[in-house]
Amino acid sequence: MVVQITKAILISSMFLLSGSISSSQAALDGRYYYQTCPQAENTVVQTIRNASIYDPKVPARILRMFFHDCFIRGCDASILLDSKPDKKAEKDGPPNVSVRAFYVTDEAKAKLEKACPQTVSCADIIAMAARDAVTMTGGPYWTVLKGRKDGRSFAKRRLGIKDLVALSGGHSLGFSHCSSFEARLHNFSTIHDADPRMNSRAKEKKCPKPNKARTAGHFLDSTASRFDNAYYKGLMAGRGVFGTDQALYDDPTTGWMVESFAKDQNLFSREFAASMIKLGNVRVSDSGEVRLNCRKVN
Ligand code: HEM
Repeated sequence: MVVQITKAILISSMFLLSGSISSSQAALDGRYYYQTCPQAENTVVQTIRNASIYDPKVPARILRMFFHDCFIRGCDASILLDSKPDKKAEKDGPPNVSVRAFYVTDEAKAKLEKACPQTVSCADIIAMAARDAVTMTGGPYWTVLKGRKDGRSFAKRRLGIKDLVALSGGHSLGFSHCSSFEARLHNFSTIHDADPRMNSRAKEKKCPKPNKARTAGHFLDSTASRFDNAYYKGLMAGRGVFGTDQALYDDPTTGWMVESFAKDQNLFSREFAASMIKLGNVRVSDSGEVRLNCRKVN
C-alpha cells in the first residue's frame, strides 16, 4: 500500500516536473498561428484524416516520424529533407529507412502554402500531425505548442526515464518488420534459440528462418490501430516485440511504471501527452526558416 502511494506521488511529481520544463520554453505557443494562419490546425487534421482513410498505416507512420525528427536532431523537420548527391539526408539513414508517409506532410504543406504563404513551418506540421494521429486512433488530445522553425540545429534532449517509458507507448500503434527483431527469434544465444524473455510463438510463425518475405513482420501490440495501453499489458505478458521495450518491464526502475500504465489508461494518456509536449519542445534554433517545400531548404 505504502509502496503504491509512493509510486503515485512519484509519478505525479514527474508529471509536474515535465510540465514545468516544457512551460519554461517560452518560444513556443499554442496560439502561435492564431492571427497569421487560423486554419493551420484544421488543414493538418483534415489531411491526416483523409490520408488515413486511404491508408490505415498513416497514423503510426506519422507518430514515428515526429519521434525521429525530434529525437535525432531536434524538432526542425530535418527528417523531411531529401538527400542530395553530396549529402545523404536523415530520412535515408539506417534508423529512418522505414519512416514513411512523407507524401502526407507534403500535402498538408502544399495546402498551407496556398492558404498562408511562408508562415507554417514543416516542423510544426509534423508536431500537429503526430498529435492528430494519436487523437484519431483513440488516444489523448493536447494543445500543440507551435512556432518551431525548420533548420539544422542540434538540440539537447531533456527527456527523463518517465518520458522514455511513456513515449515508448507510441508502440501502441503500428508494425515492425521481421528484420527489426529477428535477432531475438533465431540464434539468440548459445543455449536459447529464441530470447527466453519473449512470448515468441506468434512471431516465429510470422518470421520463419529463412524468411523470404521482406514485408513480413508483427504488430507492436494486440490493438495496433488503436492508441491505448494494450502495449503495456503486452509487456507484462512478455509480448514486447523489441528487446528494448521488454526491458522496460523487466528492469525494476521502470517496471513499476509499465505496471501503472497497464493498469490505468487515463494515467498513460496524461503522461504520454505531457511527454509528447516535452519531446516537441526539444529546443531548435531561432535562426531557422519556414521552408516553402518541406523536402528542400529555401
Ligand atoms: C525508445 C526507443 C525506440 C526504439 C528503439 C524504437 C524502435 C522501433 C523499431 C525498430 C520499429 C520497427 C521499424 C520497422 O521494422 O519497420 C519501430 C516502429 C514504430 N515506432 Fe518506435 N522506437 C522507439 C521509440 C518510439 C517512440 C518514442 C515513438 C512515438 C512516440 C515510436 C513510434 C513508433 C511507431 C508508431 C512505430 C510503427 C511504425 C509503422 O507501423 O510504420 N517509437 N520503432
